[in-house]
Amino acid sequence: MKKILVCISGASGAGLGIKLYNLIPSKYERYLILSKNAKIVLEKEENIFFNDDIAAAPASGSFAIDTTFIVPCSMNTLAKIANGIADNLITRSAAVAIKEQKKLILAPRELPFSQIDLENMLKLSKINNVFIAPPIIAYYNKPKTINDMEMFLIGKWFDMARIENELFERWK
Ligand SMILES: Cc1cc2nc3c(=O)[nH]c(=O)nc-3n(C[C@H](O)[C@H](O)[C@H](O)COP(=O)(O)O)c2cc1C
Repeated sequence: MKKILVCISGASGAGLGIKLYNLIPSKYERYLILSKNAKIVLEKEENIFFNDDIAAAPASGSFAIDTTFIVPCSMNTLAKIANGIADNLITRSAAVAIKEQKKLILAPRELPFSQIDLENMLKLSKINNVFIAPPIIAYYNKPKTINDMEMFLIGKWFDMARIENELFERWK
């Protein structure tokens, strides 16, 4: 069974990461890491790790996660990943994804991005299998609700991971 790891760091929109996690089809084994700053309490989910648990399974390449999402990704977490800092379970999982050449899908969220943020994104985007995919909405699908916008975003992130989905209307 393919393993998917979702990481939620302390940027605005942590609820989006949880929606993404909940929508991963059951044929995948799913895992979740929360940073303290995410301040999200999950009551009934399974396979949840805490960010200060550096000995949890995703910290090892041998656990063989196939795809790691960081949704949303704070500029702090982005900067650490871009500079090889692995001081918590999220940044360590990102470092593992990069060294194992597995898919790493980052949704950096800030407005505006600073030159430092953009340089960090550019640096990471040059690595194979790293996707810089901020939560940028589209209008062509005529979203009416926040949920419509979020389903579009999650559908696009799933496409990058090759997770089959019908979450948004595709351009015809
Ligand atoms: C309400 C709130 C919203 C925030 N939104 C963002 C954001 O959108 N992007 C960002 O980079 N940081 C944001 N921050 C700041 C981060 O939480 C802060 O930089 C923190 O150190 C990130 O830690 P982490 O990367 O370990 O989660 C926000 C903080 C708060 C309290």
